[in-house]
Amino acid sequence: MNVEKIRDDFAYLDGKKVGKEVIYLDTGATSQKPSCVIEAVDNYYRYSNANPHRGAHFLSWKATEAYENTREVVRKFIGAKRASEIVFTRSTTESINLLAYSYGLSKLRSGDEILISILDHHANLVPWQMVAKKTGAKLVYAYLKDDYSLDYDDLRSKINEKTKIVSITGSSNVTGELIDSKLITKWAHEVGAISIVDGAQLIPHVKTDVVDIDCDFLAFSGHKMFSPMGIGVLYGKYELLKELEPFNLGGDMIEYVYEQESTYQDPPLKFEAGTPNVGGVIGIGAAIEYVEKIGMEEIFAYEHELTQYAYDLIKDIPNIKIFYPPKDKAGSVISFTFTDIHPHDIATILDSKGIAVRSGHHCAMPLHQYLGTSATARATFSIYNTKKEAEIFAKELKNVRKVMGL
Ligand code: ALA
Repeated sequence: MNVEKIRDDFAYLDGKKVGKEVIYLDTGATSQKPSCVIEAVDNYYRYSNANPHRGAHFLSWKATEAYENTREVVRKFIGAKRASEIVFTRSTTESINLLAYSYGLSKLRSGDEILISILDHHANLVPWQMVAKKTGAKLVYAYLKDDYSLDYDDLRSKINEKTKIVSITGSSNVTGELIDSKLITKWAHEVGAISIVDGAQLIPHVKTDVVDIDCDFLAFSGHKMFSPMGIGVLYGKYELLKELEPFNLGGDMIEYVYEQESTYQDPPLKFEAGTPNVGGVIGIGAAIEYVEKIGMEEIFAYEHELTQYAYDLIKDIPNIKIFYPPKDKAGSVISFTFTDIHPHDIATILDSKGIAVRSGHHCAMPLHQYLGTSATARATFSIYNTKKEAEIFAKELKNVRKVMGL
């Protein structure tokens, strides 16, 4: 992978235009966007802008074609069987809310169980709390081993005939752990439960095949994978999507509307009420083309090596505590704190050196409670980061202690 060439694609690396040289280690929150994605969105709004599925005129056809062609691009990217299994949403969060409202509320009964893990992001946790409260189902958690990796024995022991939904992250946004979604899906199916994968932190980093995993649903966002914000995907097996009630109702998702009732389109349009984010869809299509040109395997290998490199550079700093799983399970995330410095201070001091890390609970409060800390600082690594940047990060992290007088 030619990182220097890749860096040419990212305008944020132009310190003069940005106003500051930035070492961006916050891709876990959102990725930077390459020029080809920005240009694709720009071109769409300049030369193809119209409302898709709604006009007989040239531009509407052009917008519809671009929108539907991208559905096929996404299908291929995640290995789905048919394009109609790809629903465009606003985000991973909206995709999971769709499942919570449309599947959870209608299928679950008192006494049923929903299994998630303590690693899960609020987006894959709060919606299930709501479903549990409204249906009388129980929200059950799988916990971690002492090495911060998911305890698969604990998880398996919590799957039983009461389990109806198993919804587990594909990769943690705090520990970075890569989860064996295929194995968990197999266990879920053994008891007749559905398997949902939160792919927000997985899809941008690891080549994923939904047919191989056999999951029933998978959610992800564009913005963590070089696309604009406000575009997400819900993959679902067609027969399950077909039987689900729509989540949003209104224009474009209907077949016929009478005064007192309506009939709906088939999936995926049944779930895409209202004018869609065509620019975002074009952006995600361009981003997929971009990562495929580089190669998903190459991306994973590079990010994994770079993250390990950074981890090795910081692991022996005095008083550091790193919530990092064993290397063979690690992704491109390092969350850490000092036993005697608050993560917000760490992030603020690093920012003064031009290094962007996230600090806080990263939308995973129960995980932080479980880890015995209210917050962590988090560095995430992507294809535009370099070893040199990792070295500067490690040096400045050591320096944080001096700045704090420690
Ligand atoms: N979910 C995003 C993160 O982990 C925002 O930072």
